[in-house]
Amino acid sequence: MKFHMPTAVVFGPGVISELGGIVRGKLRSSRPLLVTDRGIIAAGIAEGVLSQFRAISTFDGVEQNPKHKTVDRGGEMARQVKPDLVIGLGGGSALDAAKAIALLATNPGVIEDYEGREKYQTAPLPVLAIPTTCGTGSEVTWVSIITHTGRQIKMSIKGPLMYPAVAVVDPDLLVTLPPPLIASTGLDALTHAVEAFTAKAASAITDLLALEALRLIFASLPEAYQDIKKNAEARENLMLGSLMAGMAFVNSDVGAVHCLAESVGSLYDTPHGVANAVFLPLVMEFNLEAAEAKYAQIALVAGIEAASRREATRLLIARIREISRDLSVPPFRELNIPESDLPIIAQKSFANNSNPSNPREATAADYLDILRRASRE
Ligand SMILES: [Fe+2]
Repeated sequence: MKFHMPTAVVFGPGVISELGGIVRGKLRSSRPLLVTDRGIIAAGIAEGVLSQFRAISTFDGVEQNPKHKTVDRGGEMARQVKPDLVIGLGGGSALDAAKAIALLATNPGVIEDYEGREKYQTAPLPVLAIPTTCGTGSEVTWVSIITHTGRQIKMSIKGPLMYPAVAVVDPDLLVTLPPPLIASTGLDALTHAVEAFTAKAASAITDLLALEALRLIFASLPEAYQDIKKNAEARENLMLGSLMAGMAFVNSDVGAVHCLAESVGSLYDTPHGVANAVFLPLVMEFNLEAAEAKYAQIALVAGIEAASRREATRLLIARIREISRDLSVPPFRELNIPESDLPIIAQKSFANNSNPSNPREATAADYLDILRRASRE
């Protein structure tokens, strides 16, 4: 068994106020570059970061499902500004872009050159990650997922030197998160925990993290969606669940749900968490023969009581469908994916790096079957 977590975590309501001290003290940085998106600036969240520095260069061009050309532009800026630290502020897109830009700051070429594992020649700049959503887990993972628009794929760029040096995780940053984003990112975190718990490389340590993440997320997600502003306990539990799910899946892996969600996201720019939520119950039904015992354990932490494993699993899958409905997640048919594209999505899903981690072997034909069932729901 291997478990690796080099990221120092600072967690708690209000910890964002410690940022300046962490950057100048622990990280000894005097020239940080902030990587974020315009939505974060417009929501006023960046203000809490910017106010702690006399001057800070900012790249705010990150979009949903960050694109390779955007990251290349950010890399160019980093080479000119010559920062000694990259601060990523935002959802998974901003944090993944920050990691990729930190790599390009110290390595030549474009981000596509670094697709795969440990392709960098020089250590990337250190990254400090500040998540502003409750789902990505990117603040504690070694991977950056960047969409190549020309090839219509999501590239995984990863390596042990890409873990953020520090994650500053402040649940109070969720206060202004709109309900659709609480839903999609919270369901992404739920999917991370379910897939990490059932992946082939799951271990005693990742199981511990994933199960506690699931307990926290099941208990807090519906309440956080209702009123995250007033419910400090729900937003703290949801943020902690998301963080723990990230620590679990980076050491275990994700599975078929993410294979499908990443394929759909690369082709149609579908929000990652929405795509995960759509496929999660269908993949759980597919995985049943290989993962029923583990699903029954998840049912227990979700507070489901049943006379048998089979019944517990059936109720768990029904609960997950109900949560998605209550959180107004659109069904597959509303994602505007043409029926004629299903075979190519199935093929891409099968070719995904995480496909071998799924608890039950999934062929391209199996993925096509799951997609056809999704389109009938
Ligand atoms: Fe995810």
